[in-house]
Amino acid sequence: MVKVHRMQIRFVESEAEIALCLDLRRKVFMGEQGVSEDEEIDGLDPICRHVLAVDNGGAVAAARVKTSGDLAKIQRVCVSASHRGQGLGARMIEYILDRLRGEDTVSQVRLGAQIHALKFYERFGFRPVGETYLDAGIPHQDMELALRQFRPAAGEKAP
Ligand code: COA
Repeated sequence: MVKVHRMQIRFVESEAEIALCLDLRRKVFMGEQGVSEDEEIDGLDPICRHVLAVDNGGAVAAARVKTSGDLAKIQRVCVSASHRGQGLGARMIEYILDRLRGEDTVSQVRLGAQIHALKFYERFGFRPVGETYLDAGIPHQDMELALRQFRPAAGEKAP
């Protein structure tokens, strides 16, 4: 039988779709990486926007975005084990960055990368800032991306 892929990545708002994001996060971060429920479901989900990737009707990737002023934080990036290494994580980050670029308010994007994923984020232009630290017992490194380059007004010099 030919498998028809119907991959969809989008921001979701319904409770049912957000529940799919949380289920996948539980599977990946709690099930695979040993993060506790309290650390994973940290109370901030209601103030975040959630991204979900669905393939053939099943949740296969998720992330959340927490925006405050001109700063957006990308958090809880995960791809189901069955779908890793096929470019899905990269497509999801590109989708989020494209959407943020389209919103005039955000100029800076930050994330706390697990050390093993530094190279994954570097390809989008994220650069490490500060020292490494432990979060939920896992080594992390903060990374930042300036979403907009400084565009000098007429007669003004770029810094
Ligand atoms: N370390 C280094 N490079 C990685 C990587 C990793 N952990 N994961 C992916 N890459 C590279 C790939 O080799 C690929 O490069 P290529 O195009 O040159 O081959 C590129 O990044 C894109 O990979 P992609 O297939 O889109 O990644 P993915 O769909 O497997 O998703 C994660 C990457 C990290 C989101 C996924 O492995 C995952 O969910 N891991 C478990 C949860 C986790 O650790 N999340 C990160 C929290 S910061």
